[in-house]
Amino acid sequence: MVVMARKERFLIKGSAGKRVLQGTLHVRGAKNAAPKAAAASLLFRDPLQIANAPAIEDFGRLVELLEKIGVNTKKTGADTYSLSTKGDLETTLPRALAKQMRMSVVVTGPLLARFGRVSLPHPGGCLIGARPIDLFLDGFKKMGAEVKERKDGYDLHARDGKLQGAHIFFPTQSVTGTETLMMAAVLAEGTTVLSNAALEPEIPALAKFLNTCGANIKGAGTSTIVIKGGGLLKAGGKNYITPPDRIEAGSFLILAALLARDVTIASCDPSHLQSLVTLLQHSGVTIEIGKDSLRVRGEQALPFRSVGVKTHEYPGFPTDLQAPMTVFLTQALGEALVFETIFEGRFRYVDELVRMGADIMSLDPHRILVRGPRSLKGKELESPDLRAGLAYIIAALVAEGDSIIHNVYNIDRGYERIEERLRAVGADIKRVSGI
Ligand code: EPU
Repeated sequence: MVVMARKERFLIKGSAGKRVLQGTLHVRGAKNAAPKAAAASLLFRDPLQIANAPAIEDFGRLVELLEKIGVNTKKTGADTYSLSTKGDLETTLPRALAKQMRMSVVVTGPLLARFGRVSLPHPGGCLIGARPIDLFLDGFKKMGAEVKERKDGYDLHARDGKLQGAHIFFPTQSVTGTETLMMAAVLAEGTTVLSNAALEPEIPALAKFLNTCGANIKGAGTSTIVIKGGGLLKAGGKNYITPPDRIEAGSFLILAALLARDVTIASCDPSHLQSLVTLLQHSGVTIEIGKDSLRVRGEQALPFRSVGVKTHEYPGFPTDLQAPMTVFLTQALGEALVFETIFEGRFRYVDELVRMGADIMSLDPHRILVRGPRSLKGKELESPDLRAGLAYIIAALVAEGDSIIHNVYNIDRGYERIEERLRAVGADIKRVSGI
C-alpha cells in the first residue's frame, strides 16, 4: 500500500458559495469496518479475503501491522486482499505502528484469544480526546486474562492459555471495545454476554460474516450480544464485503447540500444516515433518498435554517460528522448549539474556521455556538484530525478565494484519493508536494 508523503498539501479554489458541483460521488468501503475485518483474519484457520477495501492509510497500516506479526497478506484484486494466518505469529504488537493508530487495539482480542497472550503499547490515534483502553482491559480481565502494566504498555496472559466466556457490561458504549471483545469471545471457552454493547452498523456487518464462517454470535446491532465460543473459523473462499463508509457518505451529503447543482452520492446505505438526513431536512435541504443513493439538486431555498446538533452513539448523530456539520451551520440562518458528547477534544478545528470568517463561540470543551450565515474566506489551514480535515475541504470549497490545507496525511488516513473524486464532480482541488 502506498504511504503518502507527509509534506503534501491540498490547494483549493473556493466557489464563494456558488453551486458548482455536478455528478456522482461513489462512496468507498468503510474506514472503520475493513481494518476490523483484517484483524478478524486472526480468528481463521484458512485465508480470509476482504473485498471493497478502501485504499486509505488506516487500512494499509493495519495490514502492515498484521504483516509484521507474521500474517501473510496478498493484494488479490483492485480492492481485494487475502490474509492468511497460518504459521507462527508474533504476539507483541510492533510499537511504532501500534502507537500511530489507536485502531490497532482491535488486534489484541483475536491474538489473545488464539495464542493466550499479547503485548501492546498504549495505542495512539487522532488528537480528539483522552481515548483510554480501560474497557478493553477490564473485559479481558473478566475473561480470565492477567494484565501487567509496563512503563510503556501492557502484557496480557490468559490463565491456562485460554480465555473464558464472561458477562461483560460496558459502562460506556465503545465501538472498538465491542468489536475487540466480540472477536475474542469467538475463540473463548463458553458463552460471553456483552451488555450495553455499541450498535454501530460495522458491528453487525462483521458478526454476520463471522457467523457464515462458523461463529455463533447473536444480537450484534443490539445492546446485548451473546457469543458462544468455539474453534478457529473457516472462510472457505467467502469474501467479507466491506460495507460503505457512512461517514464519507454523510460528509458528501453535507458538501452536496451546500454546493450541489445536482450531485448523487452512490454506493451508500441511506438507512445508516437517518440522523443526518433528518437534521438536514429540518434545515430545509431537499434530499432524494434511493435504495443505495442520496441525491441533492441545486434548487434549494437558501439560506438553510440552523439546527441544533448533539452527537450520540449510533443511531444518533455521529461524532465523526460533527465537524462537517459545523461547517454546514456556518452557512445556515440562525444560531445553533453543537454539543459533542462522545469526545472532549473534538473542537480543535474551530479556531481555523473562525479565522475563515465563521462566527463560532466556544462555551466549554463539549459545546460551541454557531451563528450564520457568514461568508468564509480562503486561508492556510492545518487539519488536526481526519474528520476535521474533510470539514476544512468543505469549508475551503464554500469559501471565497484560495485555501491551502496542510497535513494531508491526516485526510488520507480515512478518505481514498479524495481530491480526484471531488475534482470529478467539479471541485477545484489539487494535491501538491514539495516546497
Ligand atoms: N472509552 C473509554 N474507555 C475505553 C474505550 C473508550 O472510556 O477503553 C470512551 C472514549 O474515550 C469515548 C467513548 O468511550 O469517550 C466512545 O469511544 P469508542 O471506544 O466508541 O471509540 P473508538 O471505538 O475508539 C470508534 C471510531 C471513531 C469514532 C468512535 C465513536 C474506529 C476505529 N474508530 O472509535 O472513529 O469516532 O468510534 O463513534 O472504529 C474516526 O473515524 O475519525 C474516528 C475517530
